[in-house]
Amino acid sequence: MSDGLENVVAAHTVLSEVDGQAGRLIVCGRSLDELAGHTGFEEMAALMLAGFVPELPGPKELPTALGAARVSLYEAVVSGARLPAELGPVEAVRALTALIPDGEDAGTLLKLLAAPAVFTPAVLRVAKGLSPIAPDPSLTQAADTLRMLGGNAPTQEQARALDTYLVTVADHGLNASTFAARVVASTRAGLASAVLAGISALKGPLHGGAPGPVIEMLDAIGAPENARPWLEEALDRGDRLMGFGHRIYRVRDPRADALKAAIRKLGADTGRLALAEAVEQAALAILRERKPGRTLETNVEFYTALLLEALGFPPEAFTCVFALGRTTGWLAHAHEQIAGGKLIRPQSVYVGPRPQQAA
Ligand code: CMC
Repeated sequence: MSDGLENVVAAHTVLSEVDGQAGRLIVCGRSLDELAGHTGFEEMAALMLAGFVPELPGPKELPTALGAARVSLYEAVVSGARLPAELGPVEAVRALTALIPDGEDAGTLLKLLAAPAVFTPAVLRVAKGLSPIAPDPSLTQAADTLRMLGGNAPTQEQARALDTYLVTVADHGLNASTFAARVVASTRAGLASAVLAGISALKGPLHGGAPGPVIEMLDAIGAPENARPWLEEALDRGDRLMGFGHRIYRVRDPRADALKAAIRKLGADTGRLALAEAVEQAALAILRERKPGRTLETNVEFYTALLLEALGFPPEAFTCVFALGRTTGWLAHAHEQIAGGKLIRPQSVYVGPRPQQAA
């Protein structure tokens, strides 16, 4: 038995490999370096899903099919509906995603791929008292998401930066949300149920909920000279430093550097980046001093926070954008699990009291 299933192998996959010692990520035979910054959301989705869903449109036709899926979802779910303004963005996106009927076909898959792109900007705008903006099916999913959020067409650099983020987080071995999605898919409940399980697991701060708190940390620290005392105090309270540590990586998470490069390309606020770098260096030094036996390095969430902030997403919606990227992985893993045909059903060891023996 292993607490947290650490080091337990629970699936064979052709989708991705996380090498925690070398700090290397491979997705469908390509390294993260080959993918991030060179591949768009649609191309990545085609790469990961085409082998499992032959009727899915190819990389050239997928943008059009996905654009049509955004329009139909907007008309069926967003337009004229009362969006759940009393919920936070992740819960609201999850609630709206639950309106998509279950199925294992290409149509259901396209709707689920489009769902966070349509629902995230809509719930954010409604929370601010603004009207949602209808999708433009002629745009890529990344560009359209930014347009539906801010109201204007994004620059090419902004759309490319979001594509880089979405591709960087599309898949990552058997992380908690992907495992949850595979468990649900293995029962044959359907793809919508698998994605809902993925969103639910993703939202926790030990997984995809970390980047919002990274922004809170940077705001509270304010200036590089405050970093060390603030971080020391947080650790004295028993807090974890968000954006650091990983179950698999024993070196720096390669996705952190892919995202830092995207922030630089975007030409985002250099003062903010300098503050983040100072906080990162201070955090790494303190974690080395306090946890000498455990290598705690920067993970993907630290620079996710900066990149999504620079693109205009509010911190409370960062997990929704993570879900937009990771839905591709959840759906591919769900299909892989379904193709394997085996129900995931491990065992537990009972350690509770036993009934009284008859005298
Ligand atoms: N700050 C302070 N201490 C930490 C941190 C951290 N960020 N991460 C781990 N530790 C300590 C932990 O307290 C424990 O110490 P001790 O042995 O003295 O009790 C030791 O390191 C090992 O921790 P663990 O909980 O056994 O490690 P894990 O593999 O279960 O945790 C983690 C991985 C990501 C949950 C954890 O590092 C963490 O909580 N990080 C902060 C939250 C965060 O950044 N989450 C995003 C994860 S990356 C996105 C993704 O792929 O999901």
